[in-house]
Amino acid sequence: MRLDKFISKATELSRKESKKILHAGEVTVNDTVVKDPGLHVDIVNDEVIWAGEPLSVAAGSRYILLHKPEGFECTLKVKEHPIVTELIAVPELGSLRIAGRLDVDTTGALLISDDGKWLHRVTSPKHEHAKIYELTLADPMDEAAQANAVKEVAEGILLEGEHEETKPAILEFIDETHARLILEQGKYHQVKRMMGYFGNRVTELHRASIGHINLDGLDKGDSRFLTPEEVAKF
Ligand code: URA
Repeated sequence: MRLDKFISKATELSRKESKKILHAGEVTVNDTVVKDPGLHVDIVNDEVIWAGEPLSVAAGSRYILLHKPEGFECTLKVKEHPIVTELIAVPELGSLRIAGRLDVDTTGALLISDDGKWLHRVTSPKHEHAKIYELTLADPMDEAAQANAVKEVAEGILLEGEHEETKPAILEFIDETHARLILEQGKYHQVKRMMGYFGNRVTELHRASIGHINLDGLDKGDSRFLTPEEVAKF
């Protein structure tokens, strides 16, 4: 399939908009920036990435929720750690993609599908699906430090290497080393970098929910298909 057609099928962009992001050098195919809209892509084997997210076109439309344990990597390629798709018992993993990857040491809710448009709707900040993260901090934060962090996160902070501040988010402290962070964005290592901004370090991280989907009744390492209602609500 032509690359511009692939992008418009996998996202909410038109063919014209797809060409624009290609010309701007925002898209990689198998780790190489590609600007040619006419490039042929193999929809199963080529990895097309835009805005940090792999794109895919629907090929059967499966929608899976996995309770990711620590020690698993969110990739479909073989890496140094076991990969999350080893945990889900479905045939033909090839066309499945992950919405909003988690770090190897992060646990929690992971959505996996072969419906590219749906994956894009789940992850795009435009659609404002809140993700709730529960985190443990290396260094205790006293009341003043907590109040300052809550305020700064609510206003948006400028993370290292970024040009724009983070979207306003909600930070709630449970005690001096435990907090909940509610984000509508999914920048690379965002939670850890946000806590790093305050001179702290996240030692444990768990994603409790994505939008209306939580992990109720699902043990670590288990997965289930979403119901049609759950899929449609995104
Ligand atoms: N933010 C992080 O820093 N890591 C994750 O795994 C998810 C969000």
